[in-house]
Amino acid sequence: MGEHKFKTMGEQAGRRSWAEPWKIKMVEPLRMTTRAEREHAIREAGYNTFLLRSADVYIDLLTDSGTSAMSDRQWAGMMLGDEAYAGSVNFYHLEEAVQAFYGYKYLVPTHQGRGAEHLISQAGIKKGQYVPGNMYFTTTRLHQEMAGGIFTDVIIDEAHDPQSLHPFKGNIDLQKLEDLFRAKGPENVAYVSLAGTVNMAGGQPVSMENVKALRELCDRYGVKLYLDATRMVENAYFIQQREDGYGSTPVATILKEFCSYTDGAWMSGKKDHLVNIGGWLAVNDWNLFEELRNLVVVYEGLHTYGGLAGRDMEAMAIGIRESVSDDHIRARVGQVQYLGQLLTDWEIPIVQPVGGHAIFVDARRFYPHIPQDEFPAQMLAAQLYLDSGIRSMERGIVSAGRDPLTGEHRHPRLELTRLTIPRRVYTEAHMDVVAESINEVYKERKNTRGLKMIYEPHYLRFFQARFEPL
Ligand code: F0G
Repeated sequence: MGEHKFKTMGEQAGRRSWAEPWKIKMVEPLRMTTRAEREHAIREAGYNTFLLRSADVYIDLLTDSGTSAMSDRQWAGMMLGDEAYAGSVNFYHLEEAVQAFYGYKYLVPTHQGRGAEHLISQAGIKKGQYVPGNMYFTTTRLHQEMAGGIFTDVIIDEAHDPQSLHPFKGNIDLQKLEDLFRAKGPENVAYVSLAGTVNMAGGQPVSMENVKALRELCDRYGVKLYLDATRMVENAYFIQQREDGYGSTPVATILKEFCSYTDGAWMSGKKDHLVNIGGWLAVNDWNLFEELRNLVVVYEGLHTYGGLAGRDMEAMAIGIRESVSDDHIRARVGQVQYLGQLLTDWEIPIVQPVGGHAIFVDARRFYPHIPQDEFPAQMLAAQLYLDSGIRSMERGIVSAGRDPLTGEHRHPRLELTRLTIPRRVYTEAHMDVVAESINEVYKERKNTRGLKMIYEPHYLRFFQARFEPL
């Protein structure tokens, strides 16, 4: 451990290297802090990296959401913002882009992903209905529960095992889903909630074979299938790399085929679309669209802006086209794989296979002496910040929250610390610095104790909870 014979990425893969399909036109200085400054900052933040000021952060891997660098084309598009209240030309550009690349008929823009989750949950779920999904996502499940739905995890078992090398750990277990249809009756299932590259499982993809079979199963029981398309471009890339028959198919073609098996999708444009704000909801059913188009007026804004400025819709329309280029997505996922390979070589316990948007460190194996109720993944994020000013986040017991029925902590099998890579923002040298800092924290692991939660907000507690070292 600690030893690493330098190899370029091309060498590692036994071929000539490829590089990012862009060059840097504008830079933003980074600030290094001292250990004493970081100790003060993390205490002030209650050992929660969400409560740090970004000015106190060196390399920010909190999230890939809204943190992308936009292209010169996108910035130029911002200048073409048509800031009309109704019928903005940029809305029609966005609509065309979603229709062209995702293939859905009707579009409702929203300010970000959770705005769309709110609308589909309100329109699609009746109180007491089940909402089966491939592992939960925090905001998605909360909106489903607030609409009266009962989320049920039907992902394959391998997804809960950080060491399983299954190539499509995001897949739905068709037997679990059919059992639920039979046990509860399909009329008591609101819809199937399918996510591309499952975030909480480590950015793990769903195969084309799985979504095809799902379509068939849902048709047999008359249940709708909606997609969380937030990181679907990354998912399409994994299909190209891993699934038989897709090796020479463009990512854009794979994306559109995948979406064609679903009835609609919601989107956080802040990820795949390479923008800092924006989202949408798109469906093929006119009646549902009418309902959604009406609801959006209540919560987000008129149906031709949904809480966005015209310029934001333009940047998103351009970002969609850029995001589906094979060169772009290979470099994006390739950078995540590069960091993952370094950590794998150094035998740091991380979720395998490495996913599309982030490295997930397995805090259970990193700190085997810290019980889950003492928040090992939360502590790991704090220790990484203390070591180097790198910001990551918890994806374990804190993120999982409490069971709405019993009020007890949910105890997910996965207790992870996520290092999320923003798109087109950091270089390979930053990835090296990150890997070295994780290695340093790993060397100190035996001296690290857990945390106690001293403040717990009611909703999505991981954002605002506060902790103290034990
Ligand atoms: N779905 C998935 C899979 C997400 O990862 C997110 C956000 C959302 C929906 C909600 O979208 O933030 O635009 O309202 N994920 C961010 C993250 C916050 O850090 O993983 P949003």
